[in-house]
Amino acid sequence: MIDRKSKNILAISGSLRSGSSNHHILKYLAGLIPENIDYSIYNDLALIPPFDPGSDTDTPPNSVSKLRQLLANVDAIVICTPEYAFGVPGQLKNMLDWLVSSSSLADKPVALITASSSGQYAHPSLLLTLGALSAKILDDANLLIPFIRSKMAADGSITDAETKDSLTRAFNTLLSSIAII
Ligand SMILES: Cc1cc2nc3c(=O)[nH]c(=O)nc-3n(C[C@H](O)[C@H](O)[C@H](O)COP(=O)(O)O)c2cc1C
Repeated sequence: MIDRKSKNILAISGSLRSGSSNHHILKYLAGLIPENIDYSIYNDLALIPPFDPGSDTDTPPNSVSKLRQLLANVDAIVICTPEYAFGVPGQLKNMLDWLVSSSSLADKPVALITASSSGQYAHPSLLLTLGALSAKILDDANLLIPFIRSKMAADGSITDAETKDSLTRAFNTLLSSIAII
């Protein structure tokens, strides 16, 4: 029998912006979590130093070490990110670069949500990167949400019903992948 309390999900926003729409989406997903499932939002992205292959050892910088430990103990991951300058936000990509050698995402189910003005370049680029990290990419948990600012009120609540439905479907796919619904 599955111990439901043993499952946990880590949510990572690719935006460091205060009031970020991607962060608001991660908070919306928190409301969809079944009881007794741990869901936490990673708040230390800004602390990850620039990737340096020379420091990419078993004893990397402290923030990287903590992130790797965190990931080792989660069952699934949600990444929710904007696109910047037709690409993946630098700090998110930088974080992912630190995870290549540690295989921290290997076989971990990942839901990728790109919520941006367009997002059409960052989304496939991130899928490639996640593939390189051997993450378990769930097709039905991947979502590209364009025009995100027009789908959200000033307080961060999602006003577009279709977007809410899509997020619920994608997130349920992730939950199913770790057998908690
Ligand atoms: C420097 C910069 C570059 C941007 N470039 C793009 C872009 O290439 N494509 C896109 O879809 N949105 C772009 N945007 C708009 C973001 O999608 C939008 O600001 C989004 O709301 C940011 O996510 P956040 O609300 O979670 O911070 C850019 C925004 C900034 C600040």
